Amino acid sequence: MADKKAGGAGLRGQIAGKSAICTVAMGHSGLTYFGYEVDDLAENCEFEEVAYLLFNGELPNQQQLNDYKKKLTGLRDLPPALCEVLERIPATAHPMDVLRTGVSFLGNLETEDSFTQQKDAADRLIATLPGMITYWYRFSHDGVRISMDTGASSIAGHFLHLLHDKVPSALHEQVMQVSLILYAEHEFNASTFTARVCASTLSDIHSCITGAIGSLRGPLHGGANEAAMEMIQQWSSPDEAEQAILGMLQRKEKIMGFGHAVYTESDPRNGIIKSWAEKLAEETGDEVLYPVSVRCEEVMWREKKLFCNADFFHASAYHFMGIPTKLFTPIFVMSRTTGWSAHVFEQRSDNRIIRPNAEYIGPAPRTVTPLADR
Ligand code: COA
Repeated sequence: MADKKAGGAGLRGQIAGKSAICTVAMGHSGLTYFGYEVDDLAENCEFEEVAYLLFNGELPNQQQLNDYKKKLTGLRDLPPALCEVLERIPATAHPMDVLRTGVSFLGNLETEDSFTQQKDAADRLIATLPGMITYWYRFSHDGVRISMDTGASSIAGHFLHLLHDKVPSALHEQVMQVSLILYAEHEFNASTFTARVCASTLSDIHSCITGAIGSLRGPLHGGANEAAMEMIQQWSSPDEAEQAILGMLQRKEKIMGFGHAVYTESDPRNGIIKSWAEKLAEETGDEVLYPVSVRCEEVMWREKKLFCNADFFHASAYHFMGIPTKLFTPIFVMSRTTGWSAHVFEQRSDNRIIRPNAEYIGPAPRTVTPLADR
């Protein structure tokens, strides 16, 4: 355990490469995308502006944004062969597995033949991901084949429209914009590192993103927002939540949506999504989920000095917008594909295959005993 805390395990604290994309550190300006603080971006930008920033290193001007949004809107349709594949995936499948398959299959249909196509391939992915997940969800759960023609000008509005079959409220679209911005990029986290390792072999972008989806799926990473939702939903009052959390801590169970591998006192994304969750709670007249969430936050800080990460208040915020819990982590994919792609571009621009060493702790050298004598 001492070695774990010293940074041996999980590559904690190691510099694993250079990047100009993002900073993740404690304190003011802790989380920045190309120099912009995440709260600045969340307050003043649309997700498409942030996607443009991550792909180009600069925010777009109005004309560039208009052109970019028009391009993305024109890339939304799903190829019929992909729809056929999505229709074959059962309702019981995990939606992250659906996206893993969807992205991989798209890579068969629209192969990235040259790295000169990388931005177009990434744009195609962020334009189609909302459709991919909702097409499967609505077909497998509601028995309907949805059209991608929502007329929504934003990815946030497009996703909510596809999911609920109606134009979202301005508030819901805005919260989704903010959420997509908060999740867009986070330096060398597990899924991004997966994407970069894959990119370092000079593989195609669909392979990089497919691998990253696999890493994000786990409950210690992107899956935490779903796990947090399942947990807080069990409790009908803040007092009940407090007792349950105390019991879990005593049993040394992990409380999902708390703690972070880099931040030590707070997650800069938490305050932003928490305030939107509070607004949504007021809008829906919620008197349980939000107060329960706030009590969890208080108890965890009081007992363990552990703070909410970005996932915890995302759980109630998404729930208040009528998003099924199983689609929480796929929204993360819709967003983080921008950050993953930016890292793939960066890795490719100055590449050396990522190949660290292991400290060997296995058996001493030995020889094979003939099979008959073993
Ligand atoms: N609930 C309860 N205890 C927690 C905890 C949590 N969510 N997160 C950390 N701890 C405890 C650890 O058990 C450990 O206790 P110990 O000193 O008695 O061994 C201590 O806090 C240090 O945490 P550690 O596991 O070393 O942190 P890490 O850097 O390895 O892991 C996370 C970081 C994010 C994986 C971890 O905090 C976690 O599993 N959180 C829950 C999952 C989650 O929300 N993931 C989303 C991340 S954005």
